[in-house]
Amino acid sequence: MPADALRELLRGLDVLSGELPEFDPGAAPADPTALFTEWLLGAVAAGVPEPHAMTLSTVDAQGDPAARVLILKGLDANGWKFAVHGESPKGRELAGRGRAALTFYWPLQARQVRVRGPVTGESAERSAADFLARSPAARAGALLGLQSRPLQDLVERDEATRKSLERVGREPGLVPPEWTLYALRPESVEFWQGDGDRRHTRLNYHRNGEGWDKCLLWP
Ligand SMILES: Cc1cc2nc3c(=O)[nH]c(=O)nc-3n(C[C@H](O)[C@H](O)[C@H](O)COP(=O)(O)O)c2cc1C
Repeated sequence: MPADALRELLRGLDVLSGELPEFDPGAAPADPTALFTEWLLGAVAAGVPEPHAMTLSTVDAQGDPAARVLILKGLDANGWKFAVHGESPKGRELAGRGRAALTFYWPLQARQVRVRGPVTGESAERSAADFLARSPAARAGALLGLQSRPLQDLVERDEATRKSLERVGREPGLVPPEWTLYALRPESVEFWQGDGDRRHTRLNYHRNGEGWDKCLLWP
């Protein structure tokens, strides 16, 4: 497609359209976890596809950023949980810098949430429990420990995956020691409610000791 036509097509696509929810920041709870849970459940109820998919952003030792989509595994007093293989690029970046950012977007409601702060690995027991709750196919892939390495061809992928799946069948309790459940304990959480007229409502929570300060942001 010529670049001009693509530009026109992009310009014509809808964004922030349809019936969007109201967000009253004055009524927001004191803790961002409660508001995040409310928005996540709202996305689930509205039928947003894969509402637990989020972008995880990390930085390498040179300061170069990288981002990829992962699945949110849980949320508790320790923070937002996700699991990675420690030998993957993101695993090395998380271990090296100890900080990350998460971004959620729920288009049916034009809602974005941004979470950033330090990350810590959960206990070996919790990481193992997360791993063993994955499907056999997901475990087989992770047991190879080759994520993001160069691949010769798809036959090599399929052969290695088949063998790994057989191994999972023989040894269902196998857990790669590098598998790590991480918790991101936010320093800030920003809630963005989009508006068709671009009068977006943004509320930022910033950690202050054991509590949170809240402030509105310009759209
Ligand atoms: C919806 C979706 C969910 C994904 N979930 C995971 C996941 O839970 N764990 C994972 O390692 N990769 C997941 N991926 C793949 C990652 O985006 C990424 O390609 C992979 O983890 C390699 O990233 P890295 O090279 O930065 O380490 C998912 C991708 C998508 C689109």
